[in-house]
Amino acid sequence: MQAYESPYGGYVYAYPHKTAYRPLDPRPALRDVWAGEHAAALYVHIPFCEMRCGFCNLFTRTGAPQDLVGAYLDAVERQARAVRDALDERSATGPRFTTAAFGGGTPTYLDARELTRLFDLTERAMGVDLGAVPLSVETSPATATRDRLAVLAERGVSRVSIGVQSFVDAEARAAVRPQKRAEVDAALDAIRAAGIPTLNIDLIYGIDGQTPDSWRFSLDTALMWNPEEVYLYPLYVRPLTGLGKRGRAWDDQRMELYRQGRDHLLGSGYEQVSMRMFRLPGSGATTDYCCQTDGMVGLGCGARSYTSTLHYSFEYAVGVRHVRGIIDDYVRRDDFDVAHVGFALNLEERKRRHLIQSLLQADGLARDLYRARFGVDVLEDFALDRFGDRLTVDDQRLRLTADGLANSDAIGPALFSAEVRRLMDGYAAC
Ligand SMILES: C[S@@+](CC[C@H](N)C(=O)[O-])C[C@H]1O[C@@H](n2cnc3c(N)ncnc32)[C@H](O)[C@@H]1O
Ligand code: SF4
Repeated sequence: MQAYESPYGGYVYAYPHKTAYRPLDPRPALRDVWAGEHAAALYVHIPFCEMRCGFCNLFTRTGAPQDLVGAYLDAVERQARAVRDALDERSATGPRFTTAAFGGGTPTYLDARELTRLFDLTERAMGVDLGAVPLSVETSPATATRDRLAVLAERGVSRVSIGVQSFVDAEARAAVRPQKRAEVDAALDAIRAAGIPTLNIDLIYGIDGQTPDSWRFSLDTALMWNPEEVYLYPLYVRPLTGLGKRGRAWDDQRMELYRQGRDHLLGSGYEQVSMRMFRLPGSGATTDYCCQTDGMVGLGCGARSYTSTLHYSFEYAVGVRHVRGIIDDYVRRDDFDVAHVGFALNLEERKRRHLIQSLLQADGLARDLYRARFGVDVLEDFALDRFGDRLTVDDQRLRLTADGLANSDAIGPALFSAEVRRLMDGYAAC
């Protein structure tokens, strides 16, 4: 009998995962790390939330007092200056970002005045006009207030992404996400009233007590605001939370709700971009991974930065005490001219990253782009027969089938290298 393999091995939003990062010794100077690299994306991480949801393992803390938020913004400014200096060494024009994002946590945990400061300091220190590039900001129902949204609209934010998870209060409670439907509705109305071009709504399936009917209700309610994008997340639970694992029956529930949600959105005119992402055709950014060689500058603790050969960040944790300790350390830091914790990508890991990031998109992997980048056909580098009829191959592309996309969270982790797997397994969660 074949062993049961869960379709929910893990969400691969980046390769390698942060739990494969280790302290760098010696710590390389950012000037060397960024030599000859192109920083195309800017990301600022705000590790604050008004609540800690039971399922969430993002790097964030609740209840941050205002003076800590102020000290955090001071530190982001110091870091931004150090990074800009490192980038400037090699380029007369400074960084020319083509996209930017404020994520978290919940960036709108900052009040309107603090948000203004975040825009000002980022623009000043990085030498970037945020109004001139596509800029995405994450928000939550309780913090998407009209005064904050007015700041976002005025500063040219092009996309606001809000976590709703469920329009049924009892389901939000079951996911340990204390929120009220009235607050969710008010936030969505306010985002639409602010006139920000792209609205994304996050929904979660697989919550205890959720049924096909209640899932349909959440999907239909979300569609009432005509969001340009919808993300459907299968629920994952963190070990040691009260949510608990339920094995195969839960996997079956998630798969059934996934198919229902996907079909409902496709039937409502959305196109599927990846297992989680759906969007209205003609809206939003392109997803073609032709720019896989481009780098990302991450500011704030919890943010990752990527060059083609090094991914780096600060220490990472999920537990309350450790997250608080890391933020407290960050606000006192001055050593922003070196990379602290990271993972160096050799040629094989760069190829794997390109394969994983491309294959998990509905458009799949363009063979000519892979060949142009690595000088070899992708099928000479990787044996992919094990994915059987979940993968289609033609002269131009490798593409997951509908069933393949549904199993993205098993296919992605199956492509990790032995070394990344070893490091992730050896990561001591704290
Ligand atoms: C940064 S939050 C979105 C903005 C804001 N903090 C909020 O929660 O409203 C990122 C999103 O990831 C999803 N997410 C995080 N952890 C998850 C998990 N364990 N299982 C499923 N989805 C998760 C949620 O849908 C959440 O809205
Ligand atoms: S889901 Fe959003 S609000 Fe909840 S803890 Fe995670 S980042 Fe914070």
